[in-house]
Amino acid sequence: AALRAQGPVVATRFPLVGDVWITTTHDATAQVLKDNATFTLRKEDGDVAGLRWWMPKLVTTIANNMLTMDEPDHTRLRGIVDEAFRRRAIVAMEPRIRAIADDLAAELFVGGAPADLVERYARILPLSVICELLGLPMADRARFIAWANAMSSLTNIVSVVRLMFALRKMRRYLQGQLQLAREQGGEGLIAELVQVEREGGQITPDEMVAMVFLLLAAGSETTTHLISGSVYELLKNPGLRDWLEEDWSRASLAVEEFLRFVSPVQFSKPRYVRRDVELDGVRLKKGDRVMVMLAAANMDPAVHDQPERLDLERKPNRHMSFGTGIHFCLGHQLARIEAASALQALFTRWPRLGLAVDASQIHWRRRPGIRMIAKLPLVA
Ligand code: HEM
Repeated sequence: AALRAQGPVVATRFPLVGDVWITTTHDATAQVLKDNATFTLRKEDGDVAGLRWWMPKLVTTIANNMLTMDEPDHTRLRGIVDEAFRRRAIVAMEPRIRAIADDLAAELFVGGAPADLVERYARILPLSVICELLGLPMADRARFIAWANAMSSLTNIVSVVRLMFALRKMRRYLQGQLQLAREQGGEGLIAELVQVEREGGQITPDEMVAMVFLLLAAGSETTTHLISGSVYELLKNPGLRDWLEEDWSRASLAVEEFLRFVSPVQFSKPRYVRRDVELDGVRLKKGDRVMVMLAAANMDPAVHDQPERLDLERKPNRHMSFGTGIHFCLGHQLARIEAASALQALFTRWPRLGLAVDASQIHWRRRPGIRMIAKLPLVA
């Protein structure tokens, strides 16, 4: 709101990124995301707009995924995995997702001790689902958590070095998994990627690693924070919790509002401005960069009535949490089903669930881009 008071498009300086424009309204955000001829993810020389010259080659290789690509490469890569994320395929996974959620919920409290929901539930559920979808061994989830932790705590040079080691290990691991699938076949998306490679090579070996890396990262962290943010809000608002517990078929409607209210992805990757352009009355020059603030779009009073109010029955709900345009979240249906299943499994299994500490003691991690509760200690 403070930024929006300065205008729909505001100049600012961002850590690691530098000078950028930020959109603060729903309208300006949608304009940028939908005009992918003017606002591109790559510069003319092909470099990713958000990466800096000093970032190691490894980062560039891993960032070589659909999320950082413009047409036609974006369409080529998204087309390869689109089928696996179609509604039919994801709905077919729902019973399995519910079973995973039920099992995790049942194991949450050992001997009545408090448990951290983020670590023991919200993190493991999406990771388990994406592992199954990709065909990665469940036993390797602990490694992904360690890597995700390295990615989510970039505070000083030591943590940056730690991240580089983590990325290197992760790349080696994923290359190993792809090789295994080449030699032995298998179930899941990794095996399907290998099949695509075999049939004509629409994807390079480096792009395959980057794709799996993207799916692992985009498919787990974000959903983790949607789940923990939703649980936190329900525990703070007993009236809303009662309303939901009365009828779990309301969960999908509620999840839409949690998506808006929690806004797990606060802003998108920087877009590069290809030509001089006027955006909501503000002149941007060719070569400038823009970041769209999804969280601000989600709180824009021009679009959402009383945006600061958590209204689980909100309809219509034009939130921007999954972005829009050609990069609209590939995993949106999966995330929605995961969140609804996670809430129902948790609150049904533990009817007396509550916060183990005062709500004011819950901390958010300082990570640019993703809004996350660091720990959510609960008692049952
Ligand atoms: C793209 C949010 C869950 C996979 C995006 C974008 C957003 C987003 C905002 C667009 C970014 C941009 O335009 O710069 C979220 C949120 C999630 C979630 C809030 C959970 C609550 C998932 C899941 C998956 C996934 C479960 C699946 C594995 C992807 C992929 C892209 C993407 C592959 C890139 C799509 C493209 O470039 O065409 N997501 N996401 N996401 N998301 Fe999600």
